[in-house]
Amino acid sequence: MATATETPVQVTPERILQMAWGYVPPLVLEAAIRHRVFDVLDGGPKTVAETAAATGASVRGLTAIMNALVGLNFLSKEGHARYGLTPESSAFLVSTKPGFQGGLIRHCSEHLIPRWLHLNEVVASGNPVSAVNDEKSGAAFFHDFVLDIFPMSYPAAQFLGAHVSFGSDGSPVRVLDLAAGSGVWGIALAQSSPRVHVTAVDWPEVIPVTKKTSARFGLADRFSFVEGDLHDADFGSGYALATLGHILHSEGEALGKKLLAKTFRALAPGGTIAIAEFLVNKERTGPVNGLFFAVNMLVNTQNGTTWSVEEISEWLREAGFTDPRTIPSPGHSPLILATKP
Ligand SMILES: C[S@@+](CC[C@H](N)C(=O)[O-])C[C@H]1O[C@@H](n2cnc3c(N)ncnc32)[C@H](O)[C@@H]1O
Repeated sequence: MATATETPVQVTPERILQMAWGYVPPLVLEAAIRHRVFDVLDGGPKTVAETAAATGASVRGLTAIMNALVGLNFLSKEGHARYGLTPESSAFLVSTKPGFQGGLIRHCSEHLIPRWLHLNEVVASGNPVSAVNDEKSGAAFFHDFVLDIFPMSYPAAQFLGAHVSFGSDGSPVRVLDLAAGSGVWGIALAQSSPRVHVTAVDWPEVIPVTKKTSARFGLADRFSFVEGDLHDADFGSGYALATLGHILHSEGEALGKKLLAKTFRALAPGGTIAIAEFLVNKERTGPVNGLFFAVNMLVNTQNGTTWSVEEISEWLREAGFTDPRTIPSPGHSPLILATKP
């Protein structure tokens, strides 16, 4: 209770009313991406009528979503008439730009939100309606999903390539790309040094995507593929570097630790493990994206969640790794590295 000398904190229901419409931003963004609004505005500011003519969408529909996008600062509005891109939408929402993040947004209405609609029952039971960590339902989901999240990790993967700096001279260097998906980590590492040969591991349904993407980058002859479940597949051994891109969160603690121990065995002495993850602080008070992603794992996996750097570092030590450390990266979180002595 406030005393006479304290100013009472003014609370308003404004934030709660905003939360009631919390599904609006991703769905408005998806509609704008699907109707090519950002692509069309990349050619210069336009009126709604001009945007309708260029996209084939309705004037009424575009008026509503383009104004909402102005409210969300994804579009600017000159006077009452012309809408333009902001620096952020220009960099990340135009489909022809290398930084395009709209692939993920495009999955909101068909794949992501329908699963979240079961959150009430999932919280009651503690179990997902269907689990993407299970090959039966996960492989089809990831087949369609992994290419669209390529831009999310490509800058961080390029940064890792520069950090490990294998250079251009010397004997071949073998890299193990675990849960490869699009192959984004292996692709950037192969591009970073002609010495690198990548072994990519993923489910048989997803490996064709890895093959197609690595071939599109002209790297087909620098990749080998292992089709199978991470927990059964033979990784081989003698690798200088192993990447675990966005896989620990769907595994849960027991399988995550097993995977780290198996990765340790596959590395050569002196080899490095590199982990990309959505992270939370050890008190689990933030960052909010990491806390949200833990709910996403509740909805979509049997035991998945998000972890702190401290927890993952402890698991790495238990697996035999030394010097767990983070390096800042241009991705959503720092990368966690450790060394096999
Ligand atoms: C979130 S995606 C990450 C892809 C890529 N590493 C990245 O960072 O963009 C997870 C990948 O792990 C694969 N995966 C998940 N569980 C697996 C398992 N038990 N065995 C093999 N692959 C698995 C999925 O097929 C998918 O390609």
